[in-house]
Amino acid sequence: MEEKQTGLKSSSTKITRRKFLVSSVLMVTSATLAACGINLGGGATTESPKAANLEPTPACGSPEELTPAVTEGPYFTPNSPERSSLLEQGMKGTKLTLVGYVVSTACKPVAHALLDFWQADADGQYDNKGFTLRGHQYTDDKGKFTLETIVPGLYPGRTRHIHVKVQAPNGKVLTSQLFFPNEAGNAKDGIYNKALLMDMKSNADGSQSGAYQFVVKV
Ligand SMILES: [Fe+2]
Repeated sequence: MEEKQTGLKSSSTKITRRKFLVSSVLMVTSATLAACGINLGGGATTESPKAANLEPTPACGSPEELTPAVTEGPYFTPNSPERSSLLEQGMKGTKLTLVGYVVSTACKPVAHALLDFWQADADGQYDNKGFTLRGHQYTDDKGKFTLETIVPGLYPGRTRHIHVKVQAPNGKVLTSQLFFPNEAGNAKDGIYNKALLMDMKSNADGSQSGAYQFVVKV
């Protein structure tokens, strides 16, 4: 069985993340960091009209903004290969490029943070014998990471998600999952947490771009 749902709905009732018009992944991430006072030298940012109705809470800077942990599930395999692309020749699925940052609660980029991703394939299957769609990487000196992968398929009992472990140098391991917006399964998934939603954009070539910022203790 995959992750057991706790039956608990997301306890978060307030909007804890800014929602931005996703005109580019980098712009989104830069905007999020800008909210933390980090200037990457990017262009101006635009909030979506809907965002005007949301409480503009900071994306980091307070303990409650720590990226929440959720269950690891049964399919983690240690010692994944170090790679930023999980794509392989002939792999089925919609290409997804996830760009993001790891920052501290003080809104400082965390360099050389470990990120270990694992996910189901386009058919909702995990490779539990090998390392297909599994890999780890480290943030650069700006705390940035890029993951090339596919949109994971659905499997019974869960909404769409990507598993991840994040660890700042000498920090504790955060085990969590990233979720996709506008998924019918989100509302029915007891593990789902809207604080773990990626910002997503569909590209003209049919691929998807995602952005997410992890806030961790250092
Ligand atoms: Fe899973």
